[in-house]
Amino acid sequence: MSKILIRGAKVLGGEPQDVLIDGETIDRVGTGIEAGDATVVEAEGQILLPGLVDLHTHLREPGREDSETVLTGTRAAASGGYTAVFAMANTFPVADTAGVVEQVWRLGKEHGYCDVQPIGAVTVGLEGKQLAELGAMHDSAANVKVFSDDGKCVDDAQIMRRALEYVKAFGGVVAQHAQEPRLTEGAQMNEGVVSAELGLGGWPAVAEESIIARDVLLAEHVGSRVHICHLSTAGSVEIVRWAKSRGIDVTAEVTPHHLLLTDELVRTYNPVYKVNPPLRTERDVMALREALADGTIDIVATDHAPHPHEDKDCEWAAAAMGMVGLETALSVVQHTMVDTGLLDWAGVADRMSFRPAHIGRLDGHGRPVSAGEPANLTLLDPAYRGVVNPADFASRSRNTPYEGLELPGRVTHTFLRGRATVLDGTLA
Ligand code: DOR
Ligand code: ZN
Ligand code: ZN
Repeated sequence: MSKILIRGAKVLGGEPQDVLIDGETIDRVGTGIEAGDATVVEAEGQILLPGLVDLHTHLREPGREDSETVLTGTRAAASGGYTAVFAMANTFPVADTAGVVEQVWRLGKEHGYCDVQPIGAVTVGLEGKQLAELGAMHDSAANVKVFSDDGKCVDDAQIMRRALEYVKAFGGVVAQHAQEPRLTEGAQMNEGVVSAELGLGGWPAVAEESIIARDVLLAEHVGSRVHICHLSTAGSVEIVRWAKSRGIDVTAEVTPHHLLLTDELVRTYNPVYKVNPPLRTERDVMALREALADGTIDIVATDHAPHPHEDKDCEWAAAAMGMVGLETALSVVQHTMVDTGLLDWAGVADRMSFRPAHIGRLDGHGRPVSAGEPANLTLLDPAYRGVVNPADFASRSRNTPYEGLELPGRVTHTFLRGRATVLDGTLA
């Protein structure tokens, strides 16, 4: 079994320590550990985190392998410091049966540069009409515990209620893409000053907030657990804060792009900024940062949404919604949360590893960096400054809003059960 000694890294941003990996496991954490026959990784000045976990990734396989595959998507994830991703169900065919979730799970085992946990659809074909076979997906080899119609909202209150009741039996969770469909018909961007000036169809905050309000009340009524995808408005934060204060079992995520970008960018008409939910205002961005810092928002999730250039390099109205995010997430979080003093590195470990693994009930990830734990680890150099160049991405798609932007931090090593998936900044 191979041994690796990570020397002098700041574990969760704390005092420098040495971490000895033996095979798949962390063997020792301390100071002055002898290297012996171990391969040494000099990590002075670097931050060691538990391997990142993304609760919201679109891997696109099966069906849209032109935009991403399990192989390319997990390579992108490893590059970004992730050791596990949850794969969204809006594939072709939709992951609404035991057969499809097992296929995705098997692909993850075969070529995963990180662990892949499939998410199951809530309704058949994401059509919102009929509950999918949630129990069969849970009982399958993929052992699905997170269900979502992401891309679409489960807008029928009765279906949502039934889904919450069903997953309660096995401790599962429904992850809601909160978008009231009638209020967002024809919507192209956030509804506000900019949409009025540009004459683009507006996407009101209330379309998101009304669904979140309904769903936290349903979760309370049923006594079940609900997770809210990609919070984007200050009002959504207020509702989640209120629900948590009432003891409702709700968790919430925010994307890196909603922590940094605003709807002012839509003035460029560059479809790289077109995303669902839309970029909002500066006031919303600040509320989301504060909520992530105070724990109202539990986690950062990428909503990595790869699209081929023919679906993005077109006029605004016709362009697909979504942006890639796995390879820039940690840098955007460092820039918006750590370098601003809102969150320390232990907080980043909490929001990007511990809590997402806990919400998704994922074993072996989101564990403390201590002896006996699986060696799922991310090492990053926070002093690095680099300009984002999509040509460097491992993802099959290039639809990043950060092209040409200087961002801090770089993942130097990612370890998946002791195996380096990224070594000296390069995919292994
Ligand atoms: O921007 C988005 N893209 N939001 C979603 O909810 C779906 C995603 C996709 O699948 O492209
Ligand atoms: Zn969504
Ligand atoms: Zn999504």
